[in-house]
Formats: sequence, structure tokens, C-alpha cells
Amino acid sequence: MILKRRKFLSHLTGLALYSVAQSLHARVTPPQSLGPFYPLKIPLDSNADLTFVEGSDGVATGDVANLFGRVMDSNGVVIPNAQIEIWQCDAFGAYHHPHAGGGIDPFFQGYGATTSDAQGRYRFRTIKPVTYPGRAPHIHMKITAGARKLVTQIYVRGEPANDRDFLLGAIKNSEARNSLIIPFERNSSGASDELDAVFNPVLKA
Ligand SMILES: [Fe+2]
Repeated sequence: MILKRRKFLSHLTGLALYSVAQSLHARVTPPQSLGPFYPLKIPLDSNADLTFVEGSDGVATGDVANLFGRVMDSNGVVIPNAQIEIWQCDAFGAYHHPHAGGGIDPFFQGYGATTSDAQGRYRFRTIKPVTYPGRAPHIHMKITAGARKLVTQIYVRGEPANDRDFLLGAIKNSEARNSLIIPFERNSSGASDELDAVFNPVLKA
């Protein structure tokens, strides 16, 4: 009886993995340009919480958002120990980059990095991206996993500027384009006034 049940469960697990692999097979996350504001020099404080700068006495302006998910490859295999970097402008639309004036909000970190855990999971605490001249709100992401790399940009579902964004619009396949557009919403428990945004990047197998 126990053996039968085990067999049944392992069969179910096999099916689940198979369906994940199938559903992810054609959906490698589309790449996007690195843009001009990847840090020239990685800041001293480059941890996964962008809403606070070590040694400062304030917190970033903006709607706090938890950006998290799981890094996988196109066979549905999770990728542990991947380096994940994000960067974005502050709540006043300024990048913390010398070529962009260095940023306006001194309490926003501008850039952060983390590593995926054994299950491929990662998490950042940042702000919901805001409009930047000529662009829809977006967060840049760069993933390095051994020899594999992905550079892309993440957009906010429901933003009217998405339809006019030249980089997003350059992805002609709508399923691929939509995979970069994610909801930023209150978490379902309602316990926090922070937003949750889930992004599951898929690298080529
Ligand atoms: Fe940008």
C-alpha cells in the first residue's frame, strides 16, 4: 500500500516536472539592452535592500516593492548560485550614475546584487519603478550563472507608457513581451503596505 502510494506520488512529481519543463520550453526570457547606467563602479553598499543606504539616516522615497522569484533554465531546472543584479532610477527619475548627475534621492541605493539560493530563489527590496523621460518605468536586471548570462528589463503591468516604449515594443512576439511585464500588487495577506512583484527569469538551457 505504502509502496503503491510512493509510486503514485513519484509519478505525480514526474508529471509536474514534465509540465513545468514543457511550459517553459519556448519561453526563454527575452534579452534587453544593458542601457547607459549600469554602474561604472559597484557601490560600497550593494546588498539586496535598495531602500536603505548603509550609514545614512533615512529611507528611500517611493512605494516599497519586494521583487522576488526563481531563476530557471528553459528545461525547468532551477539555477542555484546565480548572481543577480538590478539597477533603476530613484523615485525622482534619476539614476545614481555619474553620467546622470549621480541621482537625487540620497537614501536610495540605485543598484543591488544578490545570489540565488539552492532552489534558485532570489529576493530584492526596492521601490516600484517610476517613469523616466522617454521610457516606461522599468528595472534593469543582469543574471550571471557560470557561462550563462541574461540582461533584461522588467516592466510594470498596467502602465500606459508600456505601449509607447521603444525597447519593449521591439519585442514583436506578444507572449515574450508580456513575460517582462509583471504586476506590482499589495501582498494577498494585506499585512503590509509594501508591494510584491514576482519575476521568474528563464535562461537558455
Ligand atoms: Fe533604464
